[in-house]
Amino acid sequence: MDEERYITSTMTSVDSELDVTLRPKTLDDYVGQDKVKSNLKVFIEASKKRKEALDHVLLYGPPGLGKTTLSHIIATELGVQLRITSGPSIERAGDLAAILTNLNENDVLFVDEIHRLNRSVEEILYPAMEDYALDIVIGKGPSARSMRLNLPHFTLIGATTRAGMLTGPLRDRFGVICRLEMYSPEELAVIVRRSATILKVKLSPESAVEIARRSRGTPRIANRLLKRVRDFAEVDGDGQVDLALCKRALDLMEVDGLGLDFNDRKYLGTIIDKFDGGPVGLDTIASAINEEGVTIEDVVEPYLLQLGFIARTPRGRICLPAAYRHLGFPPKAGLGEQMGFAEK
Ligand SMILES: Nc1ncnc2c1ncn2[C@@H]1O[C@H](COP(=O)(O)OP(=O)(O)O)[C@@H](O)[C@H]1O
Ligand SMILES: [Mg+2]
Repeated sequence: MDEERYITSTMTSVDSELDVTLRPKTLDDYVGQDKVKSNLKVFIEASKKRKEALDHVLLYGPPGLGKTTLSHIIATELGVQLRITSGPSIERAGDLAAILTNLNENDVLFVDEIHRLNRSVEEILYPAMEDYALDIVIGKGPSARSMRLNLPHFTLIGATTRAGMLTGPLRDRFGVICRLEMYSPEELAVIVRRSATILKVKLSPESAVEIARRSRGTPRIANRLLKRVRDFAEVDGDGQVDLALCKRALDLMEVDGLGLDFNDRKYLGTIIDKFDGGPVGLDTIASAINEEGVTIEDVVEPYLLQLGFIARTPRGRICLPAAYRHLGFPPKAGLGEQMGFAEK
């Protein structure tokens, strides 16, 4: 996706630096996600008391909601080391075996984008997760025999944007499954104020609320907007961010009052204009707006679904009346009828 897209919630290079600086370090500093936090607190306490590895944890939810952050925090709270890798970067079974044998007792292994592990690697993971063991084959032909190697007890934290793409056997091996939710504007305002303090930005309280409102439920986007607004204040103002300046900066970035940007409007406008509001299949929309289907599903749609702007139906995506109103299109008659249309 376009690097210039302010509200993309996937990582860009600027973000990785920003992410590290702004990442909360403890569970108490981690804003929101109360259900997930209170569950984790109990499990972490229990495993510390027993001096055992925490059960394997699966974190899932759209990009930028705090999965990587949370895995750092879990390791810190457990007082163990965190080893970080990702699904696509583990190419062969041997790579994973090397990582696993190098862990210390009770360490956390974080596997980002775990849905992208290849099958032969995934199979090594089953006994590793279940029995803390590696099954290796020694020798070739008739004299080959299999040997079991014990591994240190460890906690696997898997992160994914799509739990539905995990195989059943893998999903079943996680004892704790946490779904991260989009953040409320109030929670995001807390995050924005916290980040402003760390970045030493002089931000009025109303500006924090304004940025929060336009961050589509996502902390990474909130932090990115804050940084752009700060740049704007330094170049165009006296470094202070008041509401007027904040709004001007956000408008210039073409991020509207609900946090929709050019790409969202293109997506919605295309469904409404070209496909009469839908239903239209994902692939058809993707080629119409020249964007990848997975990006649309992971980055564009979650927030639009949450706003009630679109719905996913078996026949494809449809735009709902709220989207028509927001974009200033005349409302379409008979949504029920619309849902009965054949896919184009
Ligand atoms: N609960 C939270 N409280 C405060 N800041 C957060 C929270 N979740 C995420 N962030 C901020 O958003 C950034 C992106 O989070 P990250 O963990 O990298 O998301 P993900 O791994 O889900 O894509 C982090 O660097 C952090 O600054
Ligand atoms: Mg991440």
